Amino acid sequence: MASEDRAVIIPDFAAWKSQGRKITVLTAYDYPIARLLDAAGVDCLLVGDSMGTTVQGRDTTLGVTLEQIIYHSELVARAARNALVVADLPFLSYQVSQRQAIRASGRILKETNCQAVKLEGGRRMAATIKAVVEAEIPVMAHIGLTPQSIRRLGTYKVQRAEDVLRADAQAVAEAGAFAVVLECVPAELATSITAELSIPTIGIGAGSGCDGQVLVLHDMLGLLEGFQPKFARRYAELGEVIRTAAANYVRDVRSGTFPGSSESFR
Ligand code: KIV
Repeated sequence: MASEDRAVIIPDFAAWKSQGRKITVLTAYDYPIARLLDAAGVDCLLVGDSMGTTVQGRDTTLGVTLEQIIYHSELVARAARNALVVADLPFLSYQVSQRQAIRASGRILKETNCQAVKLEGGRRMAATIKAVVEAEIPVMAHIGLTPQSIRRLGTYKVQRAEDVLRADAQAVAEAGAFAVVLECVPAELATSITAELSIPTIGIGAGSGCDGQVLVLHDMLGLLEGFQPKFARRYAELGEVIRTAAANYVRDVRSGTFPGSSESFR
């Protein structure tokens, strides 16, 4: 295996669907966290444009730029030994034209060592997905609640239009996407789409019937205190851990107990 190769490859996704092996995806935005997630056995690291809200403190993902995605994707891709790395195409880096989508996706593959891109949209993006896939760039699709549509949607809410969701899922699969994220879709509908579809579904707020699950890291680690989406399970309370550690540091410096003699040079 060449040093740039990773254990997980695109065809594994189809194989895992047919074997009924669940696929695990988490977001990652930097090197040390990506190392830890990769070592923990996560199948796929997503450099999500959720970095707009989780890392940059914005209200939406709309302000994230292609340059920022490229920067963070490079950090994550450098860390991953096993996991497949997928980079999100940010808002307005692929909607203008198919040429624009191929160029943005191509830059991501060439400059970051990621293996695939993700983009939002169902039927209206099918031709774009096809064009990017025909340029030999694997695409993960994303339907249901698509955060880049927030200005049209008005609020982040569960998407219940059954016919629309089924048609979108079929369209992205036929266009050549290797997997599709289903975000905030009723569980029964997501299960039924998963059974109908030839490609794996990766759910977030879409119940347990999907072929895999994705969570935003900051949600599952409790890093954004006070923000708890219904669909995210908290696996740790790192916000509390970090706040307590920082408060202890402040206390120790102010009291003169840090640094101690073992932490000083003679
Ligand atoms: O940007 C992101 O992190 C995502 C996930 C929520 C799937 O798109």
